[in-house]
Amino acid sequence: MQDIHSSKILILDFGSQYTQLIARRIREMGVFCEIYPWNASEEMAIKIPPVGIILSGGPESVHIQDAPQIPHWVFNQNTPILGICYGMQALVQHFGGKVIAADEHEFGFAEVNLTNEGDLLNKNLTGVSDNKIKVWMSHGDRVDVLPEGFTTIGDTPACPIAAMENQAKKIYGLQFHPEVSHTADGAQILENFVIQTCNAEKLWTNANIIADLKQQIAEQVGDKQVLLGLSGGVDSSVVAALLHSVIGDQLTCVFVDNGLLRKNEAEEVMQTFAKNMGIKIVHSKSEDLFMQKLSGVSDPEEKRKIIGNTFIEVFDAEASKLENIEFLAQGTIYPDVIESAGIGGTEKVIKSHHNVGGLPEKMNLKLVEPLRELFKDEVRQIGLELGLPREMVFRHPFPGPGLGVRILGAVDKTKADVLREADAIFIKALRDANLYDKVSQAFAVFLPVKSVGVVGDNRRHAYVIALRAVVTTDFMTATWADLPASLLGEVSRKIINNIKEVSRVVYDISDKPPATIEWE
Ligand code: XMP
Repeated sequence: MQDIHSSKILILDFGSQYTQLIARRIREMGVFCEIYPWNASEEMAIKIPPVGIILSGGPESVHIQDAPQIPHWVFNQNTPILGICYGMQALVQHFGGKVIAADEHEFGFAEVNLTNEGDLLNKNLTGVSDNKIKVWMSHGDRVDVLPEGFTTIGDTPACPIAAMENQAKKIYGLQFHPEVSHTADGAQILENFVIQTCNAEKLWTNANIIADLKQQIAEQVGDKQVLLGLSGGVDSSVVAALLHSVIGDQLTCVFVDNGLLRKNEAEEVMQTFAKNMGIKIVHSKSEDLFMQKLSGVSDPEEKRKIIGNTFIEVFDAEASKLENIEFLAQGTIYPDVIESAGIGGTEKVIKSHHNVGGLPEKMNLKLVEPLRELFKDEVRQIGLELGLPREMVFRHPFPGPGLGVRILGAVDKTKADVLREADAIFIKALRDANLYDKVSQAFAVFLPVKSVGVVGDNRRHAYVIALRAVVTTDFMTATWADLPASLLGEVSRKIINNIKEVSRVVYDISDKPPATIEWE
């Protein structure tokens, strides 16, 4: 098989919030790409030689002292180069043109007038109307004078040089963001660069990725034994399915039930992996230990610490009963690698909630991280191809400390049982109304305050449940989900009627920021 990495686009990151989006758009085209910080060493960034280079946007101005520069080696690669936003301005600066502060900062939609049919903005575009395309702009500086050899291929009233190219040298610049979905034709513009101009090959397909991962695992692991902490989350689940498909019984998973999981979660994990797939799983039923350690603790960070440390303790105890383990598998994915890679990008990361702290060194284990190159959407696709249930692959994110941070204040089993029931009622209602996939994260929260209610002729004081549902793409910002009032009313009735410990249900209408998604 041809190496699926052999046709690579290199993305140099100048700090834009959209850099990972550029990479995802290119991967969606079926082309491999890698992101490195703009000051990464040449050896690292071109270890696999690229067929094209993209310079991302960034928050700086080319005029500040020590402004990020395009490294000289970029121009020795003999490949096409595309600069986006800051990347374009840095190209202009490099080739002797002029960048100035724009009179007005452009942020949001703009219409680019196509002035010359170029390589990037050409007849492949379908969203052209009146010779204009709609784009997403976000910049303070703008190009004022083009370097020699370049022509303008697009302009806006506020930005007379909004796109440029030098066809002979195959160097291009876009002031707007083609990677953002608001740019009509953005994907096509990137495809014009990646496929038409760079001649990249579409080797990055699910089938090829899986075949490549299997081969890498077989080579790395051989006939050795592998241990995996299986949480039931997407990443560790896909790692389990993938490893098992290659090494079968050489894989042992440890699944820790900490008593803070959602309703039926443990049963579902055991059913899917142990019963249906035949994976060896040590099911550690540790609810009592976790509840005992959490007893009377109400500080959220303290609770997180206790849950994390107890997990390590339990995992460690289970792992030391196993013999001949040589590898520890982890569900590290590409955004973890990029975000934790320091400038220079050599740091190896261990995902915090899969972090079985110190265990690899203590047990002298080597790491297997088969998903290190993949984005979350790619991991999901691969999970589906490997036969994991759709509900598992597209499940909302669930925090490592689980219900421990959704029971405000001190945690105990009764509260966890109440919350599990309430949460299950809410989630089922969302699924039944086909709204589960439309929100990014939804859950119930246990509030340890007692509120009055009336049941028949009697008053009762019982707990309050808050419902939370948000819509977000990156979980850094989020808006509360505008769920139908009828659905919320139905969920409230069901929770209050079925759970005697609850007398009141409220819906959280706070955005992030300033609120966070979780309540603790
Ligand atoms: P916040 O509450 O900070 O949450 O807006 C953002 C995302 O992170 C998840 N989250 C956690 N995940 N351990 C985790 O593994 C934690 O302690 C933790 N706290 C929050 C949260 O569910 C949301 O998806």
